[in-house]
Amino acid sequence: MKSIDLLVTEASQVLTLAGPARQRCGPEMSELSAIPNGTVAVDKGLVVETGSAAEMAGKYRARKTLEANGRLVLPGFVDPHTHLVFAGTREYEMAARLAGDSYLDILAGGGGIHGTVEKTRKASFDELLESAKGRMQRMLEHGTTAVEIKSGYGLEPETEFRILDVANRLRHDGPCDVAVTFLGGHVVPKDTGREAYVSWLSGEALDGCKGRAEFVDVFCDQGAFTLEESVQILKEAKARGFGLKIHAGQFRDLGAAGAAASLGAISADHLEHVSADQLAVMKKNGTIAVLLPGASFFLGSREYPDAKAMEKAGVAIALSTDFNPGSCPSYSMQMMIALACHQMGMSAAAAVTASTVNAAYAMGRGGLLGTLEPGKQADLIVLDVETPEQIPYFYGVNLVRKVVKKGRVVVDI
Ligand code: NIG
Ligand code: FE
Repeated sequence: MKSIDLLVTEASQVLTLAGPARQRCGPEMSELSAIPNGTVAVDKGLVVETGSAAEMAGKYRARKTLEANGRLVLPGFVDPHTHLVFAGTREYEMAARLAGDSYLDILAGGGGIHGTVEKTRKASFDELLESAKGRMQRMLEHGTTAVEIKSGYGLEPETEFRILDVANRLRHDGPCDVAVTFLGGHVVPKDTGREAYVSWLSGEALDGCKGRAEFVDVFCDQGAFTLEESVQILKEAKARGFGLKIHAGQFRDLGAAGAAASLGAISADHLEHVSADQLAVMKKNGTIAVLLPGASFFLGSREYPDAKAMEKAGVAIALSTDFNPGSCPSYSMQMMIALACHQMGMSAAAAVTASTVNAAYAMGRGGLLGTLEPGKQADLIVLDVETPEQIPYFYGVNLVRKVVKKGRVVVDI
């Protein structure tokens, strides 16, 4: 009998997501590699083995046993697109939208993102750290064990770098795994000329991001950056060795998804509006579609990304909250799974793949996170359901009962 740290037993099923060591596309997204009556063996923070109770009987002596009591066990959720570090909230804007104003009109009128920028510039490192830490803890309680964090509410050097430094502090301190992205290209700030700002973004800013950010992202859309500006910034970022991401087609298709994919972007995000030609370029380059149905939902839009067309085109899909104070203040990947199923027609299994293994690849952590295979990090959750289909079925509540992070039980409800 081998001595190990932890044995997770008596799961209704363990969804291992075992499969090829890459993002999953098309029909692969519906294969969860489930083990009925499953057990997970964990040691030194890593998955050692998974198998049925019968296969695993008598093999391991564990220092701790976590009984899942007939509940569902799966990898921790990965949230690959968030704007987690900012000050203040914008519920007054939500009220204005409910009264008929549009998101883009509010932005064009100097509110929206600009309102959060104003508050964030005034906030200290410690204030930003404390609020972001609290948000990450909420995410963890909702089953998210890894998260990508973007800057983008400073729009000038000092605050942009302060946000990145906060994100890096969270990366060191945890509890979640964190990937850091520079989104200085969120919108043009009110107090700087367009040309001067784009020139900073595609030069000095990127030099300042060395060691601070892994990815560079640009919001390419009506009211934000043009395709030409976005490509200029991404090309310079690529030349300096950053991974690339893009906010593409949330409101209008400017061709950003295809352009970013041609430059080798790891993901193109939003995609409420995207052409079939661009999906083909994404497929060819392995660019993952990160879909953010919470933003459509919260903005009261009927325009959800066409996940079915993407699945058919063989583009790998990931889901994310887009957590931010303007278009989606939700911590819950479970809610995103529900929206993906009920508003975008994804199957529960595909939505689970999109929230775990594909999301891990979309933040450059596919080798470490997103599946329960031997050698992967032991990040797993116990949900109070018996099947993957019950996750979007019992929607609107937090189904999490346990969260295990690097082999340690960090949430126990
Ligand atoms: O991804 N689209 C641009 N940025 C965010 C919204 C940011 C905000 O409104 O504060 C998004 O939806
Ligand atoms: Fe976003």
